[in-house]
Amino acid sequence: MSEHFHYQDNRLYAEGVSLEDIASRFGTPCYVYSRAALTEGFYQFSDALKGRDHLVCYAVKANSNLAVLNLFARLGAGFDIVSGGELQRVIAAGGDTRKVVFSGVGKTEFEMRMALEEDILCFNVESASELDRLNEVAGSMGKKAAISLRVNPDVDAKTHPYISTGLKQNKFGVAYSETLDLYRKANAMPHLKITGMDCHIGSQITETGPFFAAAEKVLLLIDELAKEGIVLEHLDLGGGLGIRYHDEAPPAIPEYVATLLSALKGRTQKLILEPGRVLVGNAGLLLTTVEYIKRGEEKNFAIVDAAMNDLMRPALYDSYHEILPVKRGGSAAGTYEVVGPICETGDFLGHARVLPIEPQSRLAIMSAGAYGMSMSSNYNTRPRPAEVMVDRGGVHLVRERETVLQLYAGERVIAD
Ligand code: LLP
Repeated sequence: MSEHFHYQDNRLYAEGVSLEDIASRFGTPCYVYSRAALTEGFYQFSDALKGRDHLVCYAVKANSNLAVLNLFARLGAGFDIVSGGELQRVIAAGGDTRKVVFSGVGKTEFEMRMALEEDILCFNVESASELDRLNEVAGSMGKKAAISLRVNPDVDAKTHPYISTGLKQNKFGVAYSETLDLYRKANAMPHLKITGMDCHIGSQITETGPFFAAAEKVLLLIDELAKEGIVLEHLDLGGGLGIRYHDEAPPAIPEYVATLLSALKGRTQKLILEPGRVLVGNAGLLLTTVEYIKRGEEKNFAIVDAAMNDLMRPALYDSYHEILPVKRGGSAAGTYEVVGPICETGDFLGHARVLPIEPQSRLAIMSAGAYGMSMSSNYNTRPRPAEVMVDRGGVHLVRERETVLQLYAGERVIAD
């Protein structure tokens, strides 16, 4: 748990603000982010990278709330985007588009145009056909697109198979053995400018080994290219550093950065990183209220007002999120399946949790700042939660709770 969320007199606080008060004021379910925690994570990167030419491109997909993006932009971050929509968010949040790298296997022509108009820093290209398309689009606009090829280093990130991306069998990146040829091809294309190389091997990685192995493999290619006179300005080693949800012991940011720098010894290229989860995951929680307690024959259920549509990770990856009572003591503890109201057995937030609760008790689902709100949906016509950010004792509503009217505003019935 981030030190910014803590108990005092058996009540849970976010940066000194009572979560019970936040729940009463803004309702539940509600995401709560700590500005101090977000800021601290970013500073850990900048401190560890001090003295080295670098750019931390926050992976927007982890949490794309404008307040979060704006905060990182003000701290000097660049952004890693995977869609035109994310680019629009970066612009709306006041981010600098010249610090944007554009990843993703399926960039459309429209998205390419938009990114070229905004003079983004680099396209992380993932296939030969994408190179062709980008060359054409840039040419039609009289521009040169800065590119990097995303190499698939075939390194096992030892993480959940759904979020492992750097293995041969994954859809991501260009095959290691084809990379040099593709660089030669790109080098001959008139509307492309080669500026870098990148890789991203997966997410929630809890050891330094895979990062080191991937960096070494990428560097071998960079050396080969240099021999042919293709000299790169930057190396982008992606994101992927894991966080502690339960009993994981991932390396801390300084240790992770030190590992990368040790692999890069003697190199002068600008180092770009694309962290997402590690910057926001433990800086956020999802606040929910117990609606009912249902005693079953085998299990007891705590039915809460948050559900898989609000936080999809447990249902999708069977992932563990710590669940804490907002008020400790008082009620007797029992063992509960913490579940939402959605009509799916997969709609659970935690299994067999020991909690001192009764109806109307509030719970905090921890480590929900990354891939929580950004992966939420409206399944069961459930409006998305409100989002608030606590900051130096104050609370800011950074996204209003959605209304049902907003959900079907674009729908029409057929007249006859
Ligand atoms: N760069 C690229 C190209 C990526 O695909 C990703 C994440 C990142 C950076 C950021 O990775 P991070 O530092 O956050 O690990 N929904 C899943 C995670 C999917 C990650 C997808 N790519 C989850 O909830 O665990």
